[in-house]
Amino acid sequence: MSSQPTATSARGLVDAPEPDISIYMGPDDLMRQLREDAVAGLTAASKSIPSKWFYDEYGSGLFDQITRLPEYYLTRAESEILGDRAGAIAELTGAETLIELGSGTSEKTRLLLDAARRAGHLRRIVPFDVDEATLTVAAEELGLMYPEVEITGIVGDFERHLDAVALSGRKLVILLGSTIGNLSPHERARLLEDLSNNLNPGDSFLLGVDLVKPVGDIEAAYNDSAGISAEFNLNILRVLNRQLDGDFNLNRFEHVAVFDPESEQMKMWLRSTTRQEVALRAIDLRTTFDESELLHTEISANFRRLGIERELSLAGLKPAYWWTDRQDRFGLSLSTKQ
Ligand code: SAH
Ligand code: TRP
Repeated sequence: MSSQPTATSARGLVDAPEPDISIYMGPDDLMRQLREDAVAGLTAASKSIPSKWFYDEYGSGLFDQITRLPEYYLTRAESEILGDRAGAIAELTGAETLIELGSGTSEKTRLLLDAARRAGHLRRIVPFDVDEATLTVAAEELGLMYPEVEITGIVGDFERHLDAVALSGRKLVILLGSTIGNLSPHERARLLEDLSNNLNPGDSFLLGVDLVKPVGDIEAAYNDSAGISAEFNLNILRVLNRQLDGDFNLNRFEHVAVFDPESEQMKMWLRSTTRQEVALRAIDLRTTFDESELLHTEISANFRRLGIERELSLAGLKPAYWWTDRQDRFGLSLSTKQ
Protein backbone atom coordinates (compact mmCIF):
# COMPACT_ATOMS: atom_id res chain seq x y z
CA MET A 1 0.00 0.00 0.00
CA SER A 2 3.02 2.33 -0.04
CA SER A 3 2.16 3.88 -3.35
CA GLN A 4 3.56 7.31 -4.02
CA PRO A 5 1.57 9.49 -6.35
CA THR A 6 3.35 11.33 -9.10
CA ALA A 7 1.91 14.49 -10.54
CA THR A 8 1.12 14.41 -14.20
CA SER A 9 -0.39 16.79 -16.66
CA ALA A 10 -3.20 15.49 -18.79
CA ARG A 11 -4.30 16.50 -22.27
CA GLY A 12 -6.37 19.58 -21.73
CA LEU A 13 -9.42 20.63 -23.68
CA VAL A 14 -8.73 23.87 -25.50
CA ASP A 15 -10.52 26.09 -23.00
CA ALA A 16 -10.25 23.92 -19.87
CA PRO A 17 -7.55 24.45 -17.28
CA GLU A 18 -5.35 21.37 -16.90
CA PRO A 19 -6.71 19.27 -14.05
CA ASP A 20 -4.45 18.20 -11.24
CA ILE A 21 -4.31 14.38 -11.39
CA SER A 22 -2.35 12.07 -9.08
CA ILE A 23 -1.48 8.68 -10.46
CA TYR A 24 -1.55 5.93 -7.85
CA MET A 25 -1.76 3.31 -10.56
CA GLY A 26 0.23 4.06 -13.71
CA PRO A 27 0.34 2.07 -16.96
CA ASP A 28 3.03 -0.33 -15.63
CA ASP A 29 1.05 -1.08 -12.49
CA LEU A 30 -2.08 -1.53 -14.52
CA MET A 31 -0.37 -4.00 -16.84
CA ARG A 32 1.14 -5.96 -13.97
CA GLN A 33 -2.24 -6.22 -12.28
CA LEU A 34 -4.01 -7.25 -15.50
CA ARG A 35 -1.36 -9.92 -16.22
CA GLU A 36 -1.81 -11.34 -12.71
CA ASP A 37 -5.59 -11.31 -12.98
CA ALA A 38 -5.50 -12.91 -16.44
CA VAL A 39 -3.16 -15.72 -15.37
CA ALA A 40 -5.09 -16.44 -12.18
CA GLY A 41 -8.52 -16.12 -13.79
CA LEU A 42 -7.93 -18.01 -17.02
CA THR A 43 -5.98 -20.93 -15.58
CA ALA A 44 -8.52 -21.63 -12.81
CA ALA A 45 -11.00 -24.52 -13.10
CA SER A 46 -13.82 -21.95 -13.19
CA LYS A 47 -12.61 -19.11 -15.40
CA SER A 48 -13.13 -15.49 -14.37
CA ILE A 49 -11.81 -11.93 -14.86
CA PRO A 50 -12.41 -9.08 -12.36
CA SER A 51 -14.95 -6.53 -13.53
CA LYS A 52 -12.71 -3.48 -13.14
CA TRP A 53 -11.20 -4.46 -16.53
CA PHE A 54 -14.42 -3.45 -18.31
CA TYR A 55 -13.44 0.17 -17.88
CA ASP A 56 -11.04 1.36 -20.53
CA GLU A 57 -12.05 4.49 -22.43
CA TYR A 58 -14.43 2.56 -24.71
CA GLY A 59 -15.90 0.54 -21.82
CA SER A 60 -16.56 3.67 -19.75
CA GLY A 61 -18.32 5.15 -22.78
CA LEU A 62 -20.50 2.04 -23.04
CA PHE A 63 -21.34 2.24 -19.35
CA ASP A 64 -22.35 5.85 -19.87
CA GLN A 65 -24.74 4.65 -22.61
CA ILE A 66 -26.08 1.96 -20.24
CA THR A 67 -27.02 4.63 -17.70
CA ARG A 68 -29.40 6.16 -20.29
CA LEU A 69 -31.10 2.88 -21.35
CA PRO A 70 -34.82 2.57 -20.59
CA GLU A 71 -34.25 -0.76 -18.80
CA TYR A 72 -31.37 0.49 -16.60
CA TYR A 73 -33.39 2.16 -13.83
CA LEU A 74 -30.45 2.38 -11.39
CA THR A 75 -29.04 5.74 -12.49
CA ARG A 76 -32.44 7.43 -12.76
CA ALA A 77 -33.59 6.10 -9.37
CA GLU A 78 -30.38 7.26 -7.69
CA SER A 79 -30.60 10.68 -9.38
CA GLU A 80 -34.15 11.04 -8.10
CA ILE A 81 -32.97 10.50 -4.51
CA LEU A 82 -29.99 12.82 -4.95
CA GLY A 83 -32.25 15.47 -6.45
CA ASP A 84 -34.53 15.30 -3.40
CA ARG A 85 -31.85 14.97 -0.72
CA ALA A 86 -28.76 16.82 -1.95
CA GLY A 87 -29.54 19.89 0.16
CA ALA A 88 -29.97 17.82 3.32
CA ILE A 89 -26.79 15.85 2.62
CA ALA A 90 -24.77 19.03 2.13
CA GLU A 91 -26.11 20.53 5.37
CA LEU A 92 -25.78 17.33 7.42
CA THR A 93 -22.21 16.57 6.37
CA GLY A 94 -20.80 20.10 6.15
CA ALA A 95 -18.22 18.67 3.78
CA GLU A 96 -15.24 20.75 2.66
CA THR A 97 -13.85 17.89 0.58
CA LEU A 98 -16.03 15.61 -1.50
CA ILE A 99 -14.27 12.42 -2.63
CA GLU A 100 -15.99 10.22 -5.19
CA LEU A 101 -14.84 6.60 -5.51
CA GLY A 102 -15.45 5.01 -8.94
CA SER A 103 -16.42 8.46 -10.16
CA GLY A 104 -16.82 7.73 -13.90
CA THR A 105 -18.30 10.85 -15.52
CA SER A 106 -19.40 12.30 -12.11
CA GLU A 107 -22.64 13.38 -13.79
CA LYS A 108 -25.09 12.64 -10.93
CA THR A 109 -22.53 14.04 -8.52
CA ARG A 110 -23.29 17.54 -9.77
CA LEU A 111 -26.60 17.43 -7.90
CA LEU A 112 -24.62 17.05 -4.70
CA LEU A 113 -21.89 19.50 -5.68
CA ASP A 114 -24.41 22.24 -6.50
CA ALA A 115 -26.02 21.78 -3.09
CA ALA A 116 -22.63 21.71 -1.33
CA ARG A 117 -21.64 24.89 -3.10
CA ARG A 118 -24.87 26.56 -1.99
CA ALA A 119 -24.21 25.42 1.59
CA GLY A 120 -20.92 27.28 1.29
CA HIS A 121 -18.44 24.73 2.71
CA LEU A 122 -17.10 23.08 -0.43
CA ARG A 123 -13.37 23.62 -1.02
CA ARG A 124 -12.15 20.54 -2.86
CA ILE A 125 -13.46 17.77 -5.15
CA VAL A 126 -11.54 14.51 -5.54
CA PRO A 127 -12.81 12.21 -8.32
CA PHE A 128 -11.13 8.79 -7.99
CA ASP A 129 -11.29 6.17 -10.75
CA VAL A 130 -9.30 3.34 -12.28
CA ASP A 131 -9.87 4.67 -15.83
CA GLU A 132 -7.51 7.60 -16.44
CA ALA A 133 -9.13 8.75 -19.70
CA THR A 134 -12.61 9.14 -18.23
CA LEU A 135 -11.25 10.63 -15.01
CA THR A 136 -9.30 13.28 -16.91
CA VAL A 137 -12.31 14.44 -18.91
CA ALA A 138 -14.52 14.42 -15.77
CA ALA A 139 -11.94 16.47 -13.84
CA GLU A 140 -11.71 18.99 -16.67
CA GLU A 141 -15.48 19.38 -16.75
CA LEU A 142 -15.68 19.76 -12.98
CA GLY A 143 -12.99 22.44 -13.21
CA LEU A 144 -15.13 24.39 -15.67
CA MET A 145 -18.31 24.01 -13.63
CA TYR A 146 -16.81 24.71 -10.21
CA PRO A 147 -13.96 27.14 -10.91
CA GLU A 148 -13.74 28.31 -7.29
CA VAL A 149 -13.20 24.73 -6.02
CA GLU A 150 -9.90 22.82 -6.09
CA ILE A 151 -10.12 19.65 -8.24
CA THR A 152 -7.64 16.85 -7.51
CA GLY A 153 -8.24 13.68 -9.51
CA ILE A 154 -6.83 10.33 -8.44
CA VAL A 155 -6.16 7.44 -10.82
CA GLY A 156 -6.18 4.43 -8.56
CA ASP A 157 -7.81 1.21 -7.44
CA PHE A 158 -10.18 1.75 -4.53
CA GLU A 159 -9.33 -1.75 -3.34
CA ARG A 160 -5.65 -0.77 -2.94
CA HIS A 161 -5.20 2.99 -2.76
CA LEU A 162 -7.64 4.30 -0.19
CA ASP A 163 -4.78 5.91 1.72
CA ALA A 164 -5.20 8.58 -0.97
CA VAL A 165 -8.42 9.72 0.72
CA ALA A 166 -6.78 10.46 4.09
CA LEU A 167 -7.02 14.22 3.51
CA SER A 168 -7.42 17.02 6.02
CA GLY A 169 -10.68 18.89 6.60
CA ARG A 170 -14.26 17.68 6.91
CA LYS A 171 -14.80 14.95 4.31
CA LEU A 172 -17.70 13.32 2.52
CA VAL A 173 -16.78 10.17 0.60
CA ILE A 174 -19.35 8.93 -1.90
CA LEU A 175 -19.64 5.60 -3.73
CA LEU A 176 -22.62 5.66 -6.07
CA GLY A 177 -24.21 3.50 -8.77
CA SER A 178 -24.24 0.37 -6.58
CA THR A 179 -20.61 -0.09 -7.58
CA ILE A 180 -20.08 -1.67 -4.14
CA GLY A 181 -22.36 -4.47 -5.36
CA ASN A 182 -19.72 -5.46 -7.90
CA LEU A 183 -17.52 -6.68 -5.03
CA SER A 184 -17.91 -9.98 -3.19
CA PRO A 185 -19.13 -9.77 0.43
CA HIS A 186 -15.56 -10.36 1.61
CA GLU A 187 -14.15 -7.64 -0.67
CA ARG A 188 -16.92 -5.29 0.47
CA ALA A 189 -16.02 -5.78 4.10
CA ARG A 190 -12.38 -5.05 3.31
CA LEU A 191 -13.23 -1.91 1.35
CA LEU A 192 -15.49 -0.52 4.09
CA GLU A 193 -12.92 -1.22 6.77
CA ASP A 194 -10.13 0.28 4.72
CA LEU A 195 -12.25 3.36 4.04
CA SER A 196 -13.23 3.70 7.68
CA ASN A 197 -9.55 3.57 8.67
CA ASN A 198 -8.82 6.50 6.37
CA LEU A 199 -11.61 8.74 7.73
CA ASN A 200 -11.61 10.98 10.79
CA PRO A 201 -14.42 10.93 13.36
CA GLY A 202 -17.26 13.06 12.02
CA ASP A 203 -16.45 12.42 8.35
CA SER A 204 -19.33 11.05 6.26
CA PHE A 205 -19.88 8.26 3.75
CA LEU A 206 -22.69 8.26 1.21
CA LEU A 207 -23.33 4.86 -0.37
CA GLY A 208 -25.75 4.06 -3.22
CA VAL A 209 -27.13 0.50 -3.38
CA ASP A 210 -29.51 -1.30 -5.69
CA LEU A 211 -32.33 -2.92 -3.70
CA VAL A 212 -33.88 -6.39 -3.89
CA LYS A 213 -36.83 -6.22 -6.29
CA PRO A 214 -38.80 -8.37 -8.73
CA VAL A 215 -36.44 -10.53 -10.78
CA GLY A 216 -37.89 -9.38 -14.12
CA ASP A 217 -36.91 -5.74 -13.51
CA ILE A 218 -33.38 -6.51 -12.47
CA GLU A 219 -32.74 -9.01 -15.25
CA ALA A 220 -34.03 -6.56 -17.88
CA ALA A 221 -31.56 -3.93 -16.64
CA TYR A 222 -28.64 -6.22 -17.51
CA ASN A 223 -30.11 -7.65 -20.71
CA ASP A 224 -31.20 -4.49 -22.53
CA SER A 225 -32.83 -4.81 -25.91
CA ALA A 226 -30.30 -2.49 -27.58
CA GLY A 227 -27.53 -4.95 -26.67
CA ILE A 228 -25.29 -2.37 -24.95
CA SER A 229 -24.86 -4.54 -21.84
CA ALA A 230 -23.68 -7.38 -24.05
CA GLU A 231 -21.24 -5.08 -25.82
CA PHE A 232 -20.02 -3.83 -22.43
CA ASN A 233 -19.52 -7.35 -21.10
CA LEU A 234 -17.63 -8.38 -24.26
CA ASN A 235 -15.36 -5.33 -23.89
CA ILE A 236 -13.36 -7.21 -21.28
CA LEU A 237 -12.14 -9.49 -24.10
CA ARG A 238 -11.20 -6.44 -26.18
CA VAL A 239 -9.12 -5.14 -23.26
CA LEU A 240 -7.37 -8.52 -22.92
CA ASN A 241 -6.70 -8.65 -26.68
CA ARG A 242 -5.21 -5.18 -26.78
CA GLN A 243 -3.20 -5.23 -23.57
CA LEU A 244 -1.97 -8.82 -23.66
CA ASP A 245 -1.77 -9.44 -27.40
CA GLY A 246 -4.69 -11.84 -27.28
CA ASP A 247 -6.80 -13.46 -29.97
CA PHE A 248 -10.23 -13.75 -28.34
CA ASN A 249 -12.82 -13.84 -31.13
CA LEU A 250 -15.67 -11.70 -29.79
CA ASN A 251 -18.12 -13.36 -32.19
CA ARG A 252 -17.63 -16.66 -30.38
CA PHE A 253 -18.74 -15.47 -26.95
CA GLU A 254 -22.17 -14.38 -25.80
CA HIS A 255 -23.44 -12.26 -22.93
CA VAL A 256 -25.23 -14.10 -20.11
CA ALA A 257 -26.77 -12.24 -17.16
CA VAL A 258 -28.99 -14.08 -14.68
CA PHE A 259 -30.31 -13.24 -11.22
CA ASP A 260 -29.38 -15.74 -8.53
CA PRO A 261 -32.12 -15.62 -5.87
CA GLU A 262 -29.99 -17.54 -3.38
CA SER A 263 -27.27 -14.87 -3.13
CA GLU A 264 -29.56 -12.03 -4.34
CA GLN A 265 -27.01 -11.13 -7.00
CA MET A 266 -27.05 -10.57 -10.73
CA LYS A 267 -24.32 -12.77 -12.13
CA MET A 268 -22.69 -12.13 -15.48
CA TRP A 269 -20.66 -14.35 -17.73
CA LEU A 270 -19.40 -14.66 -21.29
CA ARG A 271 -20.35 -18.04 -22.74
CA SER A 272 -18.16 -19.66 -25.35
CA THR A 273 -20.39 -20.64 -28.27
CA THR A 274 -17.94 -23.28 -29.56
CA ARG A 275 -14.98 -25.27 -28.35
CA GLN A 276 -12.02 -22.98 -29.01
CA GLU A 277 -8.41 -22.18 -28.16
CA VAL A 278 -7.42 -18.71 -27.07
CA ALA A 279 -3.91 -17.32 -26.67
CA LEU A 280 -2.63 -14.28 -24.79
CA ARG A 281 0.77 -14.03 -26.42
CA ALA A 282 2.18 -11.30 -24.16
CA ILE A 283 2.01 -13.65 -21.18
CA ASP A 284 2.52 -16.88 -23.09
CA LEU A 285 -0.84 -18.20 -22.01
CA ARG A 286 -2.96 -20.61 -24.03
CA THR A 287 -6.25 -21.94 -22.83
CA THR A 288 -9.16 -23.92 -24.18
CA PHE A 289 -12.84 -23.06 -23.80
CA ASP A 290 -15.29 -25.92 -24.15
CA GLU A 291 -18.53 -25.31 -25.98
CA SER A 292 -20.84 -23.45 -23.51
CA GLU A 293 -18.04 -22.91 -21.01
CA LEU A 294 -18.55 -19.77 -18.94
CA LEU A 295 -16.11 -16.96 -18.20
CA HIS A 296 -17.39 -15.15 -15.12
CA THR A 297 -17.04 -11.37 -15.40
CA GLU A 298 -19.22 -9.67 -12.79
CA ILE A 299 -21.61 -9.86 -9.91
CA SER A 300 -23.98 -7.04 -9.07
CA ALA A 301 -25.49 -7.57 -5.64
CA ASN A 302 -28.91 -6.39 -4.58
CA PHE A 303 -29.14 -5.11 -1.02
CA ARG A 304 -31.57 -4.77 1.86
CA ARG A 305 -31.40 -1.88 4.29
CA LEU A 306 -30.66 -4.00 7.33
CA GLY A 307 -27.91 -5.96 5.63
CA ILE A 308 -25.96 -3.00 4.31
CA GLU A 309 -26.37 -1.03 7.55
CA ARG A 310 -24.95 -3.99 9.42
CA GLU A 311 -21.96 -4.13 7.07
CA LEU A 312 -21.35 -0.38 7.57
CA SER A 313 -21.60 -0.70 11.36
CA LEU A 314 -19.13 -3.60 11.42
CA ALA A 315 -16.61 -1.31 9.69
CA GLY A 316 -17.09 1.48 12.25
CA LEU A 317 -19.37 3.57 10.05
CA LYS A 318 -22.57 4.51 11.89
CA PRO A 319 -25.66 4.53 9.62
CA ALA A 320 -27.47 7.83 10.20
CA TYR A 321 -29.89 8.33 7.27
CA TRP A 322 -31.59 6.09 4.72
CA TRP A 323 -33.44 7.32 1.65
CA THR A 324 -35.04 5.48 -1.27
CA ASP A 325 -36.64 6.51 -4.55
CA ARG A 326 -40.42 6.58 -4.76
CA GLN A 327 -40.55 3.03 -6.15
CA ASP A 328 -38.12 1.57 -3.58
CA ARG A 329 -35.74 0.37 -6.25
CA PHE A 330 -32.59 2.05 -4.98
CA GLY A 331 -31.26 3.15 -1.58
CA LEU A 332 -28.87 5.85 -0.38
CA SER A 333 -27.26 5.41 3.00
CA LEU A 334 -25.48 8.23 4.80
CA SER A 335 -23.20 7.13 7.61
CA THR A 336 -20.73 8.81 9.93
CA LYS A 337 -17.27 7.68 10.95
CA GLN A 338 -17.36 6.89 14.65
N1 SAH B 1 -20.21 6.45 -10.25
C1 SAH B 1 -20.72 6.32 -11.61
C2 SAH B 1 -20.00 5.19 -12.38
C3 SAH B 1 -20.33 3.79 -11.93
S1 SAH B 1 -19.56 2.55 -12.96
C4 SAH B 1 -22.19 6.09 -11.57
O1 SAH B 1 -22.73 5.92 -10.47
O2 SAH B 1 -22.83 6.05 -12.62
C5 SAH B 1 -18.23 2.08 -11.93
C6 SAH B 1 -17.04 3.05 -11.97
O3 SAH B 1 -16.08 2.60 -11.03
C7 SAH B 1 -16.33 3.10 -13.33
O4 SAH B 1 -16.05 4.43 -13.66
C8 SAH B 1 -15.06 2.29 -13.10
O5 SAH B 1 -13.98 2.72 -13.90
C9 SAH B 1 -14.80 2.51 -11.63
N2 SAH B 1 -14.12 1.40 -10.97
C10 SAH B 1 -14.44 0.07 -11.03
N3 SAH B 1 -13.61 -0.65 -10.25
C11 SAH B 1 -12.76 0.26 -9.68
C12 SAH B 1 -11.67 0.12 -8.77
N4 SAH B 1 -11.31 -1.07 -8.29
N5 SAH B 1 -11.02 1.25 -8.38
C13 SAH B 1 -11.40 2.48 -8.86
N6 SAH B 1 -12.42 2.65 -9.72
C14 SAH B 1 -13.09 1.55 -10.12
N1 TRP C 1 -21.56 -1.35 -12.19
C1 TRP C 1 -22.59 -1.66 -13.13
C2 TRP C 1 -23.72 -2.35 -12.39
O1 TRP C 1 -23.47 -3.22 -11.58
C3 TRP C 1 -22.01 -2.48 -14.24
C4 TRP C 1 -22.95 -2.99 -15.28
C5 TRP C 1 -24.11 -2.45 -15.68
C6 TRP C 1 -22.77 -4.15 -16.11
N2 TRP C 1 -24.65 -3.19 -16.72
C7 TRP C 1 -23.85 -4.21 -17.00
C8 TRP C 1 -21.79 -5.11 -16.22
C9 TRP C 1 -23.97 -5.21 -17.95
C10 TRP C 1 -21.90 -6.11 -17.17
C11 TRP C 1 -22.98 -6.16 -18.03
O2 TRP C 1 -24.87 -2.02 -12.56
